[in-house]
Amino acid sequence: MPDQRTLLEELQHRQAEAELGGGKARIAQQHRKGKLTARERLDLLLDEGSFVELDRFVTHRSTAFGLADQVYPGDGVVTGHGRIGGRLVYVFSQDFTVFGGSLSEAHAEKICKVMDLALRNGAPIIGLNDSGGARIQEGVASLGGYADIFLRNTLASGVVPQISAILGPCAGGAVYSPAITDFTFMVRGVSYMFVTGPSVVKTVTHEEVSFDGLGGADVHGGTSGVSHFTRDSEPACLQAIRELVGFLPGNNVDEPPRLPTDDPDDRRDEALLDVIPASATQPYDMHEVLRRVVDDGSFLDVHAGFAENILCGFARLGGRPVGIVANQPAVLAGVLDINASAKAARFIRFCDCFNLPVVTFVDVPGFLPGVAQEHGGIIRHGAKLLYAYCEATVPKLTVITRKAYGGAYDVMSSKHIRGDLNLAWPSAEIAVMGPRGAVEILFRDEIAKADDPVAETARLGEEYTARFANPYAAAARGYVDDVIDPRDTRPRLIEALRTLAGKRDRNPPRKHGNIPL
Ligand code: HXC
Repeated sequence: MPDQRTLLEELQHRQAEAELGGGKARIAQQHRKGKLTARERLDLLLDEGSFVELDRFVTHRSTAFGLADQVYPGDGVVTGHGRIGGRLVYVFSQDFTVFGGSLSEAHAEKICKVMDLALRNGAPIIGLNDSGGARIQEGVASLGGYADIFLRNTLASGVVPQISAILGPCAGGAVYSPAITDFTFMVRGVSYMFVTGPSVVKTVTHEEVSFDGLGGADVHGGTSGVSHFTRDSEPACLQAIRELVGFLPGNNVDEPPRLPTDDPDDRRDEALLDVIPASATQPYDMHEVLRRVVDDGSFLDVHAGFAENILCGFARLGGRPVGIVANQPAVLAGVLDINASAKAARFIRFCDCFNLPVVTFVDVPGFLPGVAQEHGGIIRHGAKLLYAYCEATVPKLTVITRKAYGGAYDVMSSKHIRGDLNLAWPSAEIAVMGPRGAVEILFRDEIAKADDPVAETARLGEEYTARFANPYAAAARGYVDDVIDPRDTRPRLIEALRTLAGKRDRNPPRKHGNIPL
């Protein structure tokens, strides 16, 4: 037997070979496309020196179409574990330099192994996708490999956080793994996702569309809502994943990680007195309210470019991570529509899975009227949001800043659906509908008979506003726990989170509910 030193030389040679993936020429090609390699990506994603690779010597077992002569250690995916901010994560990073990152049976087995480890050890799993899809030469073995991954995505859902970054192509059935995961990241000019590509689309529907126009980062970040985070470069994308992981527990049993802050818990913010405009119909930016309330003004916007009439994102209050849902009066007056309902419902369910309290800021005129919304299923989609709030057992805090009208009042984390602390600013208007709509229904005859119907509508509207459009009727019934000075919003929320730290609430035992999908 050769001595250890000789054997070590062979090991080092094999390791170096594995590091090169598909070889120097293909690495150069990847760089020419403006893309990083699988390993460069992991270097940026993980804490320096923390990556521990597994299965670097795995190879495919196929002999079809000359594959026996083309064997690359690692088989097109780099897998293992590492640390983000010192906390354990499992990772896989597809290597486009090996058969275009395509998924073979062995490649799938490597991914499944780290998914199983993530689940067993209670840590997030992060997938960096850059792949031409199923490895064509492997046929059904490759399709089976995808199915093995889909099953694990589903079983891990709600147990460990799952994050996908699309850093190249992701096409065909392969899209359904990221689609099941909790968050998808895309990079402008680098990522694209579609079930069928431009050429098939052209054949079937005669539509001409580019890769980017069909499934680029802006399409999925803004129009389809498939992607939750859009960034301009791969380093920015990988940094954003690190930021996101900082808010999340490793699993559904752990508490989210607390981060010390210099922002005082009892900080009052004078400017909150001036956020609400004098006129009830005038918009304002809810971001402004959030920035003034949360720790260090820091808010990680999820789905920032999709359904902008509702804001969802992560922040900290007194160092505790929370999920925030907020109507955005600056876009469509903050109305709830199909996309806003679906966006917030999924976000709330994520928070509920992972012990993140949900803090809701309400300024909502109601659900969006219109044939397109009704025919598009606003009933079905709006029900998702209602269901998600009703079902959630994490601490639920609500602040009504201005309007809370109609069914949307009930939906937006109201007391009636197990809100733990429901606060209102003095500017809150809680009623079945806005003054104009209400007086037109209640006083139709009087307005018709009036000498000046416009003036009469305005007068009745003012009367209605004085009577109904305030928080005190709700406060009188205990539907809001308190009407507060807006400047006290932050201290009140932080105190409530402290109070609710030991909250235990349960839904009835059952296999699972049947959310209106
Ligand atoms: C095997 C593949 C491959 C694949 C790419 N390659 N995709 N090998 N199986 N699916 C190889 C190429 O032959 C090439 O090898 C190398 O990877 C780089 O590919 P290029 O075509 O040169 O790269 P580029 O021009 O950047 O184009 C990338 C691409 C294109 C758009 C992804 O490769 C492509 O269209 N690939 C096929 C995509 C596809 O139809 N996949 C199946 C989808 S269905 P060499 O040796 O020349 O470097 C699917 C089902 C999933 O995935 C099922 C789940 C239920």
